[in-house]
Amino acid sequence: MPENVTPGRRTFAIISHPDAGKTTLTEKLLLFGGAIHLAGEVKARGQARRARSDWMKIEQQRGISVTSSVMTFERDGVTFNLLDTPGHEDFSEDTYRTLTAVDSAVMVIDVAKGIESQTRKLFEVCRLRNVPIITFVNKVDREGREVFETLDEIADLLALDVAPMTWPVGMGGTFEGVYDLVSNRLLLPEGDSREFQGKVIQTTGLDDPQLDAIVSPQNLAKLREDAELAMAGYASFDGEAYRNGDLTPVYFGSALKEFGVDSLIDAIARHAPPPHALPAEPAPVSPDNNEVTGFVFKVQANMDPNHRDRIAFMRLVSGTFKRGMKLTPTGHGKPIAIHSPIMFFAQQRELADEALPGDIIGIPNHGTLRVGDTLSEKAAVRFTGLPNFAPEILRRVVLKDPTKTKQLRKALDDLSEEGVIQVFYPEIGSNWIIGVVGQLQLDVLLSRLDAEYKVGANLEPAPFDTARWIGGEAADVKEFMDLNRGAMAKDRDGNPVFLAKSAWEVGYVADRYSRVKFMATRER
Ligand code: G4P
Repeated sequence: MPENVTPGRRTFAIISHPDAGKTTLTEKLLLFGGAIHLAGEVKARGQARRARSDWMKIEQQRGISVTSSVMTFERDGVTFNLLDTPGHEDFSEDTYRTLTAVDSAVMVIDVAKGIESQTRKLFEVCRLRNVPIITFVNKVDREGREVFETLDEIADLLALDVAPMTWPVGMGGTFEGVYDLVSNRLLLPEGDSREFQGKVIQTTGLDDPQLDAIVSPQNLAKLREDAELAMAGYASFDGEAYRNGDLTPVYFGSALKEFGVDSLIDAIARHAPPPHALPAEPAPVSPDNNEVTGFVFKVQANMDPNHRDRIAFMRLVSGTFKRGMKLTPTGHGKPIAIHSPIMFFAQQRELADEALPGDIIGIPNHGTLRVGDTLSEKAAVRFTGLPNFAPEILRRVVLKDPTKTKQLRKALDDLSEEGVIQVFYPEIGSNWIIGVVGQLQLDVLLSRLDAEYKVGANLEPAPFDTARWIGGEAADVKEFMDLNRGAMAKDRDGNPVFLAKSAWEVGYVADRYSRVKFMATRER
């Protein structure tokens, strides 16, 4: 094991905008971690499951997958659990919720495009929980923006300190390699394809005359000048600031050319935090606690829809989980004996009998487990800080057969409990409104209403664009609600929600009613 590396788990996710290179980087991480066969395995399993379920046909038609999986690989005594955050069209609340189950994240940015919209949204979710972030600036084998421009954009848009850890030597056509500013090593591509094969040159620093013999004069002069400016202008790496979510170390590389991936894995092993205590009632739960505890961050209906089979994905927070163990969901239900958990391990995937804090377990159930549930041996704790996210797409649900109101209400309540949609019941009028963060959730809703509840419905545009939970002193909240009754609704749990016509209106009312809090997330 390399020095200064704490053994154990690193449970993390990759956040990025579509096309930045998340898939390519994931493959390369698995390849470098020696688990590439697992990538294929995960896919094959997903496909087998999908074939068994009707509503999942949507995914097949669109050639995308809602199945968020866990990929595990090991290196140098460290076990990496990489949780997939569904992107593209299947961007949904699951994407956000997955981030509640990780200890850190890798933010992938396209060197030519910088911070894009989806990266930013996902970053905001990380910030809610102070999830530490390592930045990987990808595609340096192509022409991109100036390094300073990229670093300044991260610092300005995300209000983070940036600490460049490596620096590209040239870019695009003039790309020669990456210089590691911390270890003073020069990483060079080798061979015709210019893929990185492991040639590492240890220097004594940027003044080392060795460099003059290796790097072209133009690139070297620029590297020396840039690096000097960078070291004076940016923060140097500070482990504590990183773990608090205040600073991001930045690595440059090319996932496609496998360049810089090794340094990234090393950085995750070295710097990313292992599982730590998580907020819970009555007290935070430490991974050292002997009792097995965990929480459900995702529920997937991936079996025969008529049987309501579900897989609940649980993040283990403390204790050593063993196959066959009984766990009780806090607040509801009897103990569940978990005889056939799905466990995700690199080597002995099928044989795994135990899981440790930071690991993810898939628990088959018949709809008893909900997103946000805490499971534990004694049922005496409840994890907090698992939010609902304000929907970004709102639709009115219109029944094809008006006599089916009761069935619709039941279906909407069920599906919102499961986390497929959010539902809002307006104070005035009878048109129920559903909210999602991704388009695909709408299709899933309609097919499941039809297949599982035999309810035909259409979705129509809602006169609202976004929703905010409201809070504050009771008198202020009441006054606001009385004055805005036409825009008030209740969520499934009866919490008051303000439905706004636009993001601008949210800002406007927030200014006008400064004593009322408008919240884009609600803790469950
Ligand atoms: P995503 O999951 O974030 O959406 O991105 P993905 O990995 O699918 O990558 C998007 C495109 O960018 C792919 O090209 C991929 O090959 C390319 N790419 C990823 N990393 C790098 C890199 O380091 N350098 C360069 N030059 N390209 C990179 P595509 O043409 O859209 O798809 P494909 O036909 O190559 O699969």
